[in-house]
Amino acid sequence: MNNLNTNNHIPSIEEAKLFLEEGGKLNPGPWVEHSLYVGKAAELIAENCEGLNPNIALILGMLHDIGRRFGVTNMRHSIDGYNFLLSKGYELPARICITHSFPYKDVNSIFGEWDCSHEEFKFVENFINVTEFDDYDRLIQLCDALALPDGFCLMEKRMVDVALRHGTNEYTVDKWKAIFNIEKHFEECMGKSLYSVLPGVIENTFNLCL
Ligand SMILES: [Fe+2]
Repeated sequence: MNNLNTNNHIPSIEEAKLFLEEGGKLNPGPWVEHSLYVGKAAELIAENCEGLNPNIALILGMLHDIGRRFGVTNMRHSIDGYNFLLSKGYELPARICITHSFPYKDVNSIFGEWDCSHEEFKFVENFINVTEFDDYDRLIQLCDALALPDGFCLMEKRMVDVALRHGTNEYTVDKWKAIFNIEKHFEECMGKSLYSVLPGVIENTFNLCL
């Protein structure tokens, strides 16, 4: 097992599953299945990258949207997730709740709206400005872009899916470019296409199982 589990900065896989199960009861929706696939993708990619712990990657992916347990919200799910996990002492997954939305490091580069107070917005703005993103931040940013609620798919499909649901803004193209750069970073690390480790991409992308 990983070291971080023993010093309490990250929950065990069992506790992470419990958080998601509870969250699914409090606010049922496709976000739960999406979270499981983000976790699985992160684990599979981490297994192929030196220096990344697949267990940590799995748990971070599973919990990145845990703020949705508090209801149907827009960007406030990131700060709700951060506060929820931090209150339990889980600093690393708390941080991911915020950083996963910012492959492009600008507080305005979001899909959707800031449905939180001005103070909370300023907190997130400062948080992403002062946080030096590491490979776990980047890994979950990447996996968030390739996991639908029913499996893995071509990133471009998921990006369009999100844009159709939430709209686009002047940051959208820069954000997409940032995600492609992160993809390149991990593919260099893996020495192969990330799709080579994700099962079902062709079926999900082209709806072959309908
Ligand atoms: Fe997500």
